[in-house]
Amino acid sequence: MILVTGASGTVGSEAARLLAAQHQPTRALVRDVSRAPRADIEIATGDFDRPDTLDAAMRGIETVILVSPAVPAQEIAVIASATRQGVRHIVKITSKASADSPVERRRGQAQIEAYLETSGLSYTLLRANAYMQNLLALAPMIKQSGGFLMSAGDGWVGMIDARDVATTAATVAASPGAHAGRTYWLTGPDLITYNDVAKELSDALGHPVEYRRTTPAEHQSAMIQAGVPETVATSNAQAFGLIAEGDAAWLSDNVVSLTDTAPRPLRTFINDHIAAFT
Ligand SMILES: NC(=O)c1ccc[n+]([C@@H]2O[C@H](COP(=O)([O-])OP(=O)(O)OC[C@H]3O[C@@H](n4cnc5c(N)ncnc54)[C@H](OP(=O)(O)O)[C@@H]3O)[C@@H](O)[C@H]2O)c1
Repeated sequence: MILVTGASGTVGSEAARLLAAQHQPTRALVRDVSRAPRADIEIATGDFDRPDTLDAAMRGIETVILVSPAVPAQEIAVIASATRQGVRHIVKITSKASADSPVERRRGQAQIEAYLETSGLSYTLLRANAYMQNLLALAPMIKQSGGFLMSAGDGWVGMIDARDVATTAATVAASPGAHAGRTYWLTGPDLITYNDVAKELSDALGHPVEYRRTTPAEHQSAMIQAGVPETVATSNAQAFGLIAEGDAAWLSDNVVSLTDTAPRPLRTFINDHIAAFT
């Protein structure tokens, strides 16, 4: 049986739905049962901060799709529980992790990966580029003011629809043996800039959407003013500044080679989420 953590979130909910559609025995871990994915699967309630609930959710599980906000202590607790409960394989969703990254959450991912490496469990790392779903956070500003603030300059991003991250995770989890010890780099089909985002949104909405350039420092302040927690705003602003410097300008064919399905382009993402922007 496969356990999907973070199953009320962006990647986890889609992975759980896909596994259910494939009739894979699946259990979804959520902390609030009202947010569980609507699919024909088992639901376990648990909290990353409560190891007893993790142990209960982990019983009888062979493979875990590990997705969460990636707080190191929490994911390490999930891996420790998996080890205790005899899980064989972990499919970990991660990013461009690095122990010396200026971005705190990338250092956190590196800490989790280091723990996973020493856990003795078999594992696969899915290292994803930025999610198209992040654009949904820009929707209120676009609706209100016809544009969005961004500090990514003209940096290219191999932006990926998180649904394709979920498809890849579900594919790997369904037959993990072939992917043990492997790291896959997941991207969308194209390198795009935030100019392309503005253009695609303008075309889809039928009115101009303006890309308002700002610096990472100003962007950080604006995000904090808009209610984004300071640590998240700081990491976001750092990541956007790195994008401007070319840090996200990478593409890979791993999604299509693993799933036999081409990753969705930005236009598809926008068309599928047009209601959020109107
Ligand atoms: N965003 C990007 O551009 C990007 C790019 C590359 C990699 N990633 C990686 O993707 C992962 C995040 O994936 P996502 O966007 O699918 O996450 P998400 O939508 O934020 O979902 C997080 C999930 O974790 C659950 N959760 C939070 N705290 C919990 C707790 N204490 N106990 C149990 N469950 C808890 C949430 O439950 P509730 O619904 O109850 O809150 C939710 O189901 C991270 O590892 C991140 O580094 C993101």
